[in-house]
Amino acid sequence: MDVLLGLQWGDEGKGKIVDFIAPHYQVIARFQGGPNAGHTLNVNGLKHVLHQIPSGVFHPQIKNLIGNGVVLDLHTLKNEILHLARLGIDLTKNLYISKKAQLIIPTHRALDAASEQEKGDRKIGSTLRGIGPAYADKIARIGLRVGDLLQPDFKEKYNTLKNKHLEQLRFYQYPIDMAQEEEQFFEAAEFIQRYPLVDSEYFINDQLRKGSRILAEGAQGSLLDIDFGSYPFVTSSHTVVAGACIGLGVAPRYIGKVLGVFKAYCTRVGSGPFPTELNDSTGERLRQLGHEYGSTTGRPRRCGWLDLPALKYAIMINHTTELMMMKVDVLNGFEQINICTHYQLPDGTLTDRLPYSLSDIPVKPVYKTFVGWQCELKDLHSFDQLPAELAAYIHFIEQQTGVPITALSYGADRHCTLVKNSY
Ligand code: GDP
Ligand code: IMO
Ligand code: MG
Repeated sequence: MDVLLGLQWGDEGKGKIVDFIAPHYQVIARFQGGPNAGHTLNVNGLKHVLHQIPSGVFHPQIKNLIGNGVVLDLHTLKNEILHLARLGIDLTKNLYISKKAQLIIPTHRALDAASEQEKGDRKIGSTLRGIGPAYADKIARIGLRVGDLLQPDFKEKYNTLKNKHLEQLRFYQYPIDMAQEEEQFFEAAEFIQRYPLVDSEYFINDQLRKGSRILAEGAQGSLLDIDFGSYPFVTSSHTVVAGACIGLGVAPRYIGKVLGVFKAYCTRVGSGPFPTELNDSTGERLRQLGHEYGSTTGRPRRCGWLDLPALKYAIMINHTTELMMMKVDVLNGFEQINICTHYQLPDGTLTDRLPYSLSDIPVKPVYKTFVGWQCELKDLHSFDQLPAELAAYIHFIEQQTGVPITALSYGADRHCTLVKNSY
């Protein structure tokens, strides 16, 4: 099983590249996160944003699995399925949902909003999709799972959890009227039972035994991991490679390649430290050229230069075997491009390691400046055709990280992709 995941703060372009390499796999599996994810695919000139469905769905022969590590919003899932059905994609035969995936219920979303409101200036800037509260209930061992939908006492269990949430919401003095959302939830709960609800750990291990090639598709990014991200400004799941084992029930020895996806620069949505953030016209230029607005919430993404200490950290935690650099075209017109090689700590010392808390220790990025390539990138068929300045940019990153860049994306469409391997 290969794992593809984001090495930054999410939105690296995972959806695009999964769709591109998917034909080399028989199964694509999501292992964590939920509808906080927004993975964009451009297929035949049309843009699609997937939140919970794995990005293999545009290839009818591929099986797509939503693993046990995911927190699932049934109404959003139903809408995604219906959107794809309108395009003629019938998922009844190739979407499999783990019975052990946790359910997000409407009050989880309200709790997410209430707790963000209470945090005020220190809010996480969550996507308000109920992710934190749903994972909190999972760990507190009071959550509901997809398999519970099949039990006769589901409604009772649902009400018990809902009433607990309502008590918490009263404490937050957060007014809610959930009637419509609750109706949608139960409608979606019925609808979803048309799809195979499976014992996903058996499903995936049977596939491994049969020799199927499996690609685990990460959501969010390594720097949003609950343990290794810039805590508390993180998401609530394990976005790093180890999360794929837990989130699918696959033993570590089955992990093959670890494909790390990163942008040629950096973005972040929501709050939290971002050492190379550009709050100036250059940052705005990156935002406009890269259309850096959230795929899920539409919020403007914060933009900045590539951060090597952060990238190297993510590569270490994931033992990334190959790098995939995305959105290179966004830098086409820049005369000069910076890469942060080190941080300067408050006492003046330089480091290329992430301090314990970037929120509390203000670091100053130290940059190496590169000359831009200043040309369009079109119809590339080999890495040998790259402009010399871009080749130098790539070479520097490879040399600093010790990991080869085997895929380069220079446009949102499938054809704007250059790969070294056949995957
Ligand atoms: P994900 O969450 O990692 O799947 O990434 P998102 O879909 O949230 O954000 C990536 C955005 O960049 C999407 O709008 C993609 O269509 C777009 N995109 C992906 N690769 C490229 C690329 O190489 N160049 C450009 N210009 N856009 C890209
Ligand atoms: P994809 O899969 C970018 C960010 C939110 C917030 C923090 C916590 O598209 O890369 P949450 O709703 O998870 O509790 O929010 O994480 N965040 C993302 N940022 N891409 C994502 O997913 C994200 N999912 C969550 O903005 O800062
Ligand atoms: Mg996204």
